[in-house]
Amino acid sequence: MTQKEIRERFIKFFESKGHAVVPSSSLLPTDPSVLFTTAGMQQFKPYYINPAEAPDKNVVSIQKCLRTSDIDEVGDDSHLTFFEMLGNFSFGDYWKKEAIEYAHEFITKEMGLTIDYVSVFQGEEGVPADEESEKIWQSIDPALKIKRAGREDNFWGPTGEEGPCGPTTEIYVNDLEVWNIVFNEYYQSADKQLKPLAIKGIDTGMGLERLAMVVQNKSNIFETDLFSNVFSFALFAGAPDELKSGRIIADHLRASVFLIADGVQPSNKERGYILRKLIRRLLVHSKNIQIPTSVIADFMQKIIIEYGKSHSELIDNQQSIINEFTKEVTKFLLTLDKGLEEFYKKYPGLKAQELVPGQSVKPFVVGQKISGKDAFDLYQSYGFPPEVIKEIAENHLYEFDEEGFNKEMEIHKNISRAGVEKKFGGHGIHPHTITNEVGSAEGNRSFGVGVKEADLSVERREEMKKKTRLHTATHLLDAALRKVLGQELAQAGADITVERLRFDFNFPRKITPEELKQAEDMANEIVKKDLPVTFKEVDLQEALDSGAAGIFKAKYPPRVKVYTVGEDNNWFSREICAGPHVTHTGEIGHITITKEESVSGGNRRIRATVE
Ligand code: ALA
Repeated sequence: MTQKEIRERFIKFFESKGHAVVPSSSLLPTDPSVLFTTAGMQQFKPYYINPAEAPDKNVVSIQKCLRTSDIDEVGDDSHLTFFEMLGNFSFGDYWKKEAIEYAHEFITKEMGLTIDYVSVFQGEEGVPADEESEKIWQSIDPALKIKRAGREDNFWGPTGEEGPCGPTTEIYVNDLEVWNIVFNEYYQSADKQLKPLAIKGIDTGMGLERLAMVVQNKSNIFETDLFSNVFSFALFAGAPDELKSGRIIADHLRASVFLIADGVQPSNKERGYILRKLIRRLLVHSKNIQIPTSVIADFMQKIIIEYGKSHSELIDNQQSIINEFTKEVTKFLLTLDKGLEEFYKKYPGLKAQELVPGQSVKPFVVGQKISGKDAFDLYQSYGFPPEVIKEIAENHLYEFDEEGFNKEMEIHKNISRAGVEKKFGGHGIHPHTITNEVGSAEGNRSFGVGVKEADLSVERREEMKKKTRLHTATHLLDAALRKVLGQELAQAGADITVERLRFDFNFPRKITPEELKQAEDMANEIVKKDLPVTFKEVDLQEALDSGAAGIFKAKYPPRVKVYTVGEDNNWFSREICAGPHVTHTGEIGHITITKEESVSGGNRRIRATVE
């Protein structure tokens, strides 16, 4: 089934169930508290509060969305920044029974898929567990597996500072979340209070790309016709790192084309900054895998032609898409080469260092560090987004001195006294992703968007502290999982943001909820015991002999740091790692595993938070 057919079938199906067809709204919402349209419900937000205003009670749409929250995960099998969301909505007409029955019928009959399992909200203080949905699912299919989950998976928070929200039920096919059905029965005000809505509403969202992936029986979204009609991935078929770069190029280019079509221009602020970052990042990746810009330009033409069939705005604005994109490319390429040359002069190893194939996150080599000052110079003089510098550094096993970089930024900020706007409360947009504003060769800068200027240093220090706690929590979970699942578990990488930790590992089978709970409890026991965390710098062989865990296949230098949780002769966790870590496990706080999923093949991923 082609993507075109999937679109048509979705719209027809809901039309037959009494839904009016509404075209996608722009990626730039009218709601001033959000940067981009992140969900199909964005354009209908007012109707949940005043259903009488809605032109139709039930509507169906295929909405263009842009989410920056998953940008670090783009390159894996299923994450994107730009995507399209299939959705049906009701403003006070039908409720859980119909919403669940429609979804079940569409997935199983129209798409011919088998549902793996569904999830429902487990409940929390003030919001009961969603037993009603559980019963509805059971009555449709008594054999269906139903999981209960908490807020992160099964509760939709408002987009922007306030708005409708409520528990959700999610449908999983081939271990992949495909459809999120939201029961909007509350209104969350800016002070985070929940009040029942006078009239309940339905909001659903299903990623077209993910649906195409399961319908077309592909192992990743990039092999669906949504991408394969446009990009020749054979060009990127080399080492796994090259494929990842190719996927990043594909995603970012598609997102950029749609953003420009909706009127965004690259700049140093807000939406323009996100667009600039997408374009610059894709250019660094194309340089990385030696894809000439002429090939990128060809891809862009193809996107306009292919997607122009369903999105006339791409055809109407093709000239400005080409112009804006080309202008930004020209501007950045001039400085990219110069910047890289400077960078390599200072850090010759960056050019020569061999990559570790197949690993998205690599351990740093102790002592190899890009100084915050150098990174800031590169950023200020050549317009390299800091995230891109970090990526180049980490790809080459160098540590990026983020704290040092932020310090430089602050010093500069104090001098420049740039204006600050408080604009970003948007759902799905992590403030810290956009606080790093780009400075550029044009000398037009603004800093610290999203936080008050005077709070910056305090905010950054707090962020670092939180990340450090999450970092040590990662070690505890790694050790606990090994104890529960056995030593065949191989660590594949980790990623830490201020909100959560993510830990990737190879393990050949699904993990049961009981096993996860056991590992989580074990890690929390260690937190309670307030064990010391210490490190030693030793020879690599000595580290390995002492039982230290490391990343499978990673290349380590002759001398490494080894972090130990517990006593030297009675430890809980021991890992080769550059740090930093807390000094006692009690500082971590309670660890909660929020999600466990399969990312591809034997690769599994958990996310956890600390309170
Ligand atoms: N608004 C819900 C989502 O985007 C459906 O997941």
